[in-house]
Amino acid sequence: MVSRLADKLVSRYATDATRILDPFCGSGAVLVAGSRNGIPTTGLDVNPIAALLSHVKLAGFSLQNATVLADDLVRTSRKIKRTLPVWWPAKTYWFTPATLEKYERLRAASLRLGLNQMNDGMAVLLSFALSVRLCSKADQRSPKPFISKQAIASRKGKHFDPYRIIPDLLNELGESYAHELIRSDCRLLLVDVTSERSIPQLMGKHSHVITSPPYINAQDYFRNFKLELNLLEGVLPFQACDLKERFIGTERGNLLADISAEKIQLQRERVPQLKTLARKSPRSEAVVHRYLHDMGKAFDTIQKCMEVKGTFVLVCGDNLIAGQRIRTWRILADMLVERGFKEFDSFTDQIEDRMLAPKRCGHRGLIKEEVVLAFRSN
Ligand SMILES: C[S@@+](CC[C@H](N)C(=O)[O-])C[C@H]1O[C@@H](n2cnc3c(N)ncnc32)[C@H](O)[C@@H]1O
Repeated sequence: MVSRLADKLVSRYATDATRILDPFCGSGAVLVAGSRNGIPTTGLDVNPIAALLSHVKLAGFSLQNATVLADDLVRTSRKIKRTLPVWWPAKTYWFTPATLEKYERLRAASLRLGLNQMNDGMAVLLSFALSVRLCSKADQRSPKPFISKQAIASRKGKHFDPYRIIPDLLNELGESYAHELIRSDCRLLLVDVTSERSIPQLMGKHSHVITSPPYINAQDYFRNFKLELNLLEGVLPFQACDLKERFIGTERGNLLADISAEKIQLQRERVPQLKTLARKSPRSEAVVHRYLHDMGKAFDTIQKCMEVKGTFVLVCGDNLIAGQRIRTWRILADMLVERGFKEFDSFTDQIEDRMLAPKRCGHRGLIKEEVVLAFRSN
């Protein structure tokens, strides 16, 4: 979500909010918009890199202190005796041996300096995370990590130096996010919304939910972040392999596990395209079933985190699955209505107007607009 839209949603629906929840907070646009308006916020996401980005955007940091830490990090890495190896079998496919050695040193030095215990240290770790793709053999033109023919020709065998790139990235980050600690009340939790029963007890009640949930099989978040996740595993407290099947809407694992035959029948009635998918592409049908099942569980958890007469703002668009157009936003809206929510407002937001960075290079995306729907809980 771009900040312009997040600001608009907060000013249109949440000026009276006592606390806003974004259960799929990603890079934190809604949390930042809420905090700018002095509203306490809660952000949940299963992706540790998203949580790291949200943390740095929200908390800010001192560029001066972070620069000292980054210099210290590089100096310690050069000298350190024991590295912290990356336990990822594919690592040599994505990085040259010289780059990898530097990263394994940086990992050990990050732990030694306790970077994840310090606010300014988190900004250095974010620069570390952002350096990973730039220092890999991946195609730099793509928002997703893959090696194109062009990348093989231009990057193969070349050593990309994280010692040099991390301080440069930190400076760039400083231009946008180095500021005094915003005295905002924001809680961030790294969690799978579909499976953590204790979320409502941990997070308490919220007057407002504003969120853009994952789409169906539009992004394989695990694949898109695999380089960063594998290099930061052990530096931040998560296990990459635990996350593999956790992202909603992706095509991983046993898709139909724990979905009853009755539920599948019900979902087929709700989404007529599923019958066509069952014939044309059973795997795609299973992906949609899994998505609907997971989003149902997520909505149940989110509802428990909401006050009576709370506001739920949903931002979503269509999906194209094996040639079938699915109105994901309408299906999610119906699921909320089934749970007792009442729609009171809606409008469409054109993707073209979001002026996304040209770095998306040719990736225009399939959807032209997203729908914003506002509901009141009973
Ligand atoms: C469409 S993005 C949200 C973008 C966000 N509004 C922003 O401003 O960046 C959906 C988010 O849902 C997260 N997500 C996917 N599965 C999840 C799960 N099981 N629990 C929590 N978050 C999940 C993804 O990591 C992703 O950040």
